[in-house]
Amino acid sequence: MSKILMVASEAVPLVKTGGLADVVGSLPPALANRGHEVAVVLPRYSRISLDGAAKVYDNLPILLGGPGYRTDIFTVHVKGVPYFLVDCPPLFDRDGIYDSGGWAYGDNHIRFAVLCRAALEIARRMHRPQILHCHDWQASLVAVYLRHSFRYDPTFVGMRCLLTLHNLGYQGHFGREILPYIGLDDSLYRMDLLEFHGMVNYLKGGIVYSDAINTVSRGYAAEIQRPEYGFGLDGLLRARSNALTGILNGADYDEWNPETDPLIAANYSARDLTGKRISKRALLEELRLPTDNLDRPVIGIVSRLANQKGFDLIEPILGALMGEDLQLVVLGKGDPHYEWAFSKLAGDHPHKVATWIGYRDDLAHRIEAGADMFLMPSLYEPCGLSQIYSLRYGTVPIVRATGGLADTIDPSVGFPFHDYTPQALLDTIRAALRAFGDKPAWQETMRRGMARDYSWKTAAAAYSELYARMLP
Ligand code: ADP
Ligand code: GLC
Repeated sequence: MSKILMVASEAVPLVKTGGLADVVGSLPPALANRGHEVAVVLPRYSRISLDGAAKVYDNLPILLGGPGYRTDIFTVHVKGVPYFLVDCPPLFDRDGIYDSGGWAYGDNHIRFAVLCRAALEIARRMHRPQILHCHDWQASLVAVYLRHSFRYDPTFVGMRCLLTLHNLGYQGHFGREILPYIGLDDSLYRMDLLEFHGMVNYLKGGIVYSDAINTVSRGYAAEIQRPEYGFGLDGLLRARSNALTGILNGADYDEWNPETDPLIAANYSARDLTGKRISKRALLEELRLPTDNLDRPVIGIVSRLANQKGFDLIEPILGALMGEDLQLVVLGKGDPHYEWAFSKLAGDHPHKVATWIGYRDDLAHRIEAGADMFLMPSLYEPCGLSQIYSLRYGTVPIVRATGGLADTIDPSVGFPFHDYTPQALLDTIRAALRAFGDKPAWQETMRRGMARDYSWKTAAAAYSELYARMLP
């Protein structure tokens, strides 16, 4: 069994903005169950309380060439997994994680460089792993420091590095002038290393220098090697295709299970769906929508309001949707344009639409339970967790067949469509609305989805095999 140190920018239950946090919260305990010795490095954002945390390292200096950063390292245990929290108040003691009100922090290049260097110091002094398992651009410099800055450092000899790509749409692009401030020299500013269209690209550095790379579904692993999905890195990914695999994420059924979920109005299972109808009524009441006809379909959306998620397809068909006998429930946060569009829609159609702008985990659970259908027409989707949760809640997914959505939703459990056009989406929603009218057949579709098993066990076994292949 291997000793692993994960590095990431978010993890449930400590801090979450999206599916990355679900993965970094669930994969380590699943790996620990298989006998791996796993720890996780995270920044200590102000929203992570230090109550019950132990300081394990006082004043660990991080020197990057510019001013030095003083960090303290704390540990907390969650589900038996140790988390090393990098405490550096000038960098992480802020309200936002990556941005403030949609504006990325101007020193993100420093914030995540410090995270990566601190992770290597933790690897040196506190938890010496065989494999550094890094997630996304925020952790990508670990590989660069390991293979470039520390290449002659005996501490790190034999240590391997795995990079998991959760989303090619976020790469960490910064100007060339940052290099001296993150402790890297200008020799790395080369097309085959960190340079990317006149910028420094952190994720590219991770892809170049990691020993192995994986993405979060097989479909996405194939897609990102094509120009349409590669965000400019498809050529590099093709060149590294021998080191690139796809491992579908799992779902944490301790958190997302209608049989036990404490956040929903009534529990239910495939055998007895009574609680789903109670949950539907409760959701409509909570959002002040009419409950006169519980046989009217409710479509749910829980999402970051980003272009990735297909909102440019939804927007043009909103008028047509309002002509259908349905109710729409939206929970989302992100692009101000879509926040405004859905708020206005709810204002214009108060009996049909409820919009909640913000981030609310409890409401996300109640929408998964109370809606009949879940809408996720993504432009691209590395894995997607919400549709996997929807399956378990008997909430039939309407998805665009891309990446992890294509790998998890077939016509026996949901409504996938291929063409990225508003018309294809509208046709598919209408097909779902018609199908909803045939109650026995609809319930069969729900039950087939509820029986699907995407637990972390399978994914953890696949990561174990990958780790084993990476080690001599
Ligand atoms: P992504 O990571 O691209 O946002 P995923 O489907 O992998 O997409 O994961 C999204 C996760 O974030 C799910 O757990 C979902 O419930 C949650 N989520 C997204 N938006 C919100 C929101 N506004 N409020 C609460 N939870 C949200
Ligand atoms: C990213 C992707 C999403 C994936 C999540 C966890 O946020 O957009 O598809 O499920 O990471 O891997």
